[in-house]
Amino acid sequence: MEKYIGIMSGTSLDGIDAVLVATDGERVTLLARTGSPFEPGLRRRLLALAGGDAVTARQWGELDAELGQAYAAVTLQLLHESGHSAEHIRAIGCHGQTVWHQPAGPLPFSLQLGDGNRLAADTGIIAINDFRRKDMALGGQGAPLVPAFHQRVLGGVDHVRILVNIGGIANITVLAPDQPVLGFDVGPGNMLMDLWARRHLGQPYDNNAAFALQGRVDTALLNRLLAEPWLALPAPKSTGRELFSEAWLNARLPVEIKPADVQATLAEFTATAIANEVDKWPAGELLVCGGGGHNPLLMQRLAALLPNWRVDTSNSAGVDMDAMEAMAFAWLAHQTMHNLPGNLPEVTGARRPAILGAIHLPG
Ligand SMILES: Nc1ncnc2c1ncn2[C@@H]1O[C@H](COP(=O)(O)OP(=O)(O)O)[C@@H](O)[C@H]1O
Ligand SMILES: [Mg+2]
Repeated sequence: MEKYIGIMSGTSLDGIDAVLVATDGERVTLLARTGSPFEPGLRRRLLALAGGDAVTARQWGELDAELGQAYAAVTLQLLHESGHSAEHIRAIGCHGQTVWHQPAGPLPFSLQLGDGNRLAADTGIIAINDFRRKDMALGGQGAPLVPAFHQRVLGGVDHVRILVNIGGIANITVLAPDQPVLGFDVGPGNMLMDLWARRHLGQPYDNNAAFALQGRVDTALLNRLLAEPWLALPAPKSTGRELFSEAWLNARLPVEIKPADVQATLAEFTATAIANEVDKWPAGELLVCGGGGHNPLLMQRLAALLPNWRVDTSNSAGVDMDAMEAMAFAWLAHQTMHNLPGNLPEVTGARRPAILGAIHLPG
């Protein structure tokens, strides 16, 4: 077994998750996990950039460098905490911070910041990043990339097993017996709820849904949110802050509404958009991973909307819900180092499987 480090920082912009795994490509064992929240100033600048604010080339480059440093610092922290040193690690798979994801149109692209040169130089470990653009160069969405990993660690069961990763965006992976893996984004995850919590509570998220639980679902607003045409598009599809933005929400809010009712409605919207997709398959097991799995209201609403499904977190199937995405990028690094493909064309829509990522050597 070789050891890899995986680093994930998702669209929630909450911070960086890092894991150390041992893998032979088939089995993936979690050895250690750590994390680090974004420093508030960095978070604010990332939010502005991801919201479409204009930045200068200099600001752009500085953010790239600063993120590269932040990824390196988390890596060193992980090595320290787990008692490993750089020479034990074959490579780092670093997702980077998405600042723009545009899978459609004449010039599709997806940009993740976080200088891999710095990550390699500061840690002394091979750093692989920029995992999405090869898939896009081959006509794919560049997303989601985690389904291949989900299949590897949670596939091969005799019933329909759907994974939903509830990060900033929610994406599902459908593992059904004797069928190709399916996976696509289904809508916002925590992103809209986080935005509203920031606006009305001054907090990064609605901790344990306390604010949402004070409100009532506004059916008219819920229906307006659910009428978003993107939700009805067929897969392959992916989305991000570019669509489900503050402007998108503002355009749908009524003039008079209690903030807690908006929070309750956003939670219901998130759960409903997920459940509507899940419900298209014969009932089985729905496993939640990502930060949304810690939101008790989301979990409760998913279970209520899917009465015939067993709804639980991925922990119940033996994979740490908070480590899943970072583990996927550690595994993707393994794939790249072994000249193996990382994407699933049936998921992303790419013309063929491809070796993903840009490799930065430390030497
Ligand atoms: N106790 C909790 N109550 C409600 N929401 C939570 C809780 N813990 C985490 N979250 C949600 O999870 C999000 C982080 O999820 P994460 O999987 O890291 O997303 P991403 O991959 O986009 O970074 C937070 O922004 C928050 O919305
Ligand atoms: Mg996160």
